Amino acid sequence: MNNKDVSARLAGQVSLGKELPVNRLGFGAMRLTGEGIWGPPKDGKAALAVLRRAVELDVNFIDTADSYGPYVSEELIAEALFPYPKGLVIATKGGWNRPGPNQWTHDATPDHLRKAVEGSLNRLRLDRIDVYQLHVPDPVVPFEASVETLAELRNEGKIRLIGLSNVTQEHIERARKIVPIVSVQNRYSFADREWDYVVDYCERNGIAFIPWFPLGAGRVAGEVLNEIARARKVTSKQVALAWLLRRSPIMLPIPGTSSVEHLEENVAAATFHLTDDEYERLAEVPELVASR
Ligand SMILES: NC(=O)c1ccc[n+]([C@@H]2O[C@H](COP(=O)([O-])OP(=O)(O)OC[C@H]3O[C@@H](n4cnc5c(N)ncnc54)[C@H](OP(=O)(O)O)[C@@H]3O)[C@@H](O)[C@H]2O)c1
Repeated sequence: MNNKDVSARLAGQVSLGKELPVNRLGFGAMRLTGEGIWGPPKDGKAALAVLRRAVELDVNFIDTADSYGPYVSEELIAEALFPYPKGLVIATKGGWNRPGPNQWTHDATPDHLRKAVEGSLNRLRLDRIDVYQLHVPDPVVPFEASVETLAELRNEGKIRLIGLSNVTQEHIERARKIVPIVSVQNRYSFADREWDYVVDYCERNGIAFIPWFPLGAGRVAGEVLNEIARARKVTSKQVALAWLLRRSPIMLPIPGTSSVEHLEENVAAATFHLTDDEYERLAEVPELVASR
């Protein structure tokens, strides 16, 4: 596939904290681990190839977390890409641990976050993490205490920019009283719009919105997607990504895959544009689902 025809650059750019411009189609590195986001991938060489191909296709924003594997995703990124090409932004996360396959436990205590940042710095072989995201607020730790710890780590030069994940607008506002927030990562797609108001808030405030599970799910969503995809001779995943890219200029999708073929397909969505009518039909899917 020709690098000029398929490039994440063609999706346009979004600026993180007005200092780090990234192409608006990133890559989510969660799926590179073993089953249940646990342990090493079945095919390690294939995982490394996906990461290298992503960079070849001008993907310069890679999302990961210490808990993916745990540690496996960050280690694979370093193995595939270190020394990192200029302009590559790696955004990792901490505060949500992975004690076993498909299990999560909270720990966003100041003590844990400090250790987590040190661990990510080591595994990613970095002196400073470009974007560090609080993975999710910890219900038994004051939210301000977690954010203040990240602000301290930023002052110490271990983190450049701070993002949040799985948060409400109220969380973002509280965090911004302590430190600038450059990105918010919540579950979102054309079919899953609980966080529409957070997307709007981010757009008003110049904060990048990183939708996870960006490809959508569900039978009705699938029907509408497939119909548009068939008519336009693209794939349903490309239609879902094109909807996100059009939804807001601050949208930074991070489709995840363990396959080079799927990666190329997803990045190619950068040049596919929906008509107004197609965009609206997809936007109406949540109402359609509710009425059935
Ligand atoms: N902040 C959070 O709490 C949170 C939670 C979940 C995820 N995330 C982040 O968001 C990223 C994306 O989320 P996600 O991985 O859950 O969802 P996703 O990107 O929507 O979906 C990934 C799934 O779709 C498949 N897929 C991807 N591209 C495809 C294509 N072109 N054709 C067919 N199948 C395709 C993948 O399988 P194949 O491997 O077979 O392609 C995988 O099973 C993750 O990698 C992670 O970085 C964050």
